[in-house]
Amino acid sequence: MLKASMHLDPHFQLAEVPPELFGSFIEHLGRAVYDGVYCPGHPAADEQGFRQDVADAIRTLRVPLLRYPGGNFVSGYRWEDGVGPRDRRPVRPDTAWRSLESNQVGLNEFAGFCRDVGAELMLAVNLGTRGVQAACDLLEYCNLPGGSHYSDLRIAHGVKQPHAVKYWCLGNEMDGPWQLGHKTAEEYGRLAVETARAMRRMDPTVKLTASGSSNPDMPTFPQWEATVLDHAYDDIDFLSLHQYLGDYTNDLGDFLAQSLTTDRFISTVASVCDCAQAKRRSKKKMMLSFDEWNVWFKTSGQEERIEPWQHAPAILEEQYTMADAAVFGCMLITLLNHADRVRIACLAQLVNVLAPIMTEPGGGPVWRQSIYWPFLHGSLYGRGAVLRASVVSPRYDSLSFTDVPYLETAAVWHEDKGELDIFAVNRAQDQPLELACPLAAFGGGTLAEHLCLSGPDPLAVNGPGQEILKPRRVSGGTVQDGELRAVLPPLSWNVLRLRLGQEC
Ligand code: AHR
Repeated sequence: MLKASMHLDPHFQLAEVPPELFGSFIEHLGRAVYDGVYCPGHPAADEQGFRQDVADAIRTLRVPLLRYPGGNFVSGYRWEDGVGPRDRRPVRPDTAWRSLESNQVGLNEFAGFCRDVGAELMLAVNLGTRGVQAACDLLEYCNLPGGSHYSDLRIAHGVKQPHAVKYWCLGNEMDGPWQLGHKTAEEYGRLAVETARAMRRMDPTVKLTASGSSNPDMPTFPQWEATVLDHAYDDIDFLSLHQYLGDYTNDLGDFLAQSLTTDRFISTVASVCDCAQAKRRSKKKMMLSFDEWNVWFKTSGQEERIEPWQHAPAILEEQYTMADAAVFGCMLITLLNHADRVRIACLAQLVNVLAPIMTEPGGGPVWRQSIYWPFLHGSLYGRGAVLRASVVSPRYDSLSFTDVPYLETAAVWHEDKGELDIFAVNRAQDQPLELACPLAAFGGGTLAEHLCLSGPDPLAVNGPGQEILKPRRVSGGTVQDGELRAVLPPLSWNVLRLRLGQEC
């Protein structure tokens, strides 16, 4: 049995986890919107056409923030197409995903859906085929109370109260050659700063995110960040990061180690931000918005292989295995361990597309993928103070990595509730790992619950009516003489839920 230990102290706090770390993303892509959240005529649909069984699954996840409407989609989007009477909305070719966009769902419908599921709307503006003016028009439509052209148009469309959208993304993945209106860092930096300034003149309360690199393997990373910050540092609130992990070497040990690149990515971007801060002798520390993160590799590029110009084609419906859930869990733990800098994160995506929540085509039942569970656990138990853990773990080497710790872990302390939640992945494929953690600094404690997602087959997946990958309660963990000991099964995601201050 592998043995690892972690040492924690309530005085060594990294940061309070912002609720926005458990945000997500719904794009006009595949069956995310149509035949996903929106399904008029479905028995579970409300009057607006939104499926309440899907909405319930989202509510259960307690998603605080939803990024919308893209993604690559936004870089060719005319927001005006999606407002006003539905019978007058144009059907457009969406060239990002080579699909047809009916525009039956647009800003007002989606904002209503967000309210209904308890999420704040994070809007992306099109800086691909459009620019400053369209962004300002959209902001005027959303946030001004009335008495101007676009705010009155919103009222005429039946939405009296402004949407008061606080979070805005200045374009999407503008460093990517696949992006409509792809730009150099210089071009984007200039456009981002001018858009930011114009938007702030319209509404000084907005929080603006500039597009960082689409992934750390981009040839322009991290010079992209440096150049964009040279232009926009003083005018933005967040810099974005995107990353999808995948099993590209067909080697499970290597795949499981991939979250180490996420850790390095965040640290590097934070360093570039700090360099930009130092250069301008600024008091402002740039915060990060990791507004697309997930595992995605099996369905990459699928839009190129299907019949084009279908409405809501079933694309990017990645099936998530047990191994994917472990990698996903490692990524989530990494985000928690950077909660001092990463203040927003959006799981990409939420329904049907790269999603924890699935619906069967044509209005079939809702089911949950393996990745649903680590996300749920993080969202339910991860909102507290992340502690700086000192971890000692056995390590392994893989094809692309050396010294990979078998144990990936984060600890979140809830002082008010007297609870400590330890999130832990055992990367070992065929060995259990015993985790020891002294609790003396907390006055002892008891193990209230050990939740675990694991299974004998790393490639097992869930399906409709077949949710074999779901967490179970594990017994055997103890707190004795003030020390927690729990065994993490091979290739597993775990939550150790401790009640502090009492030992039995
Ligand atoms: O989430 C799917 C796509 O991944 C998004 O549209 C894009 O921003 C990223 O490349």
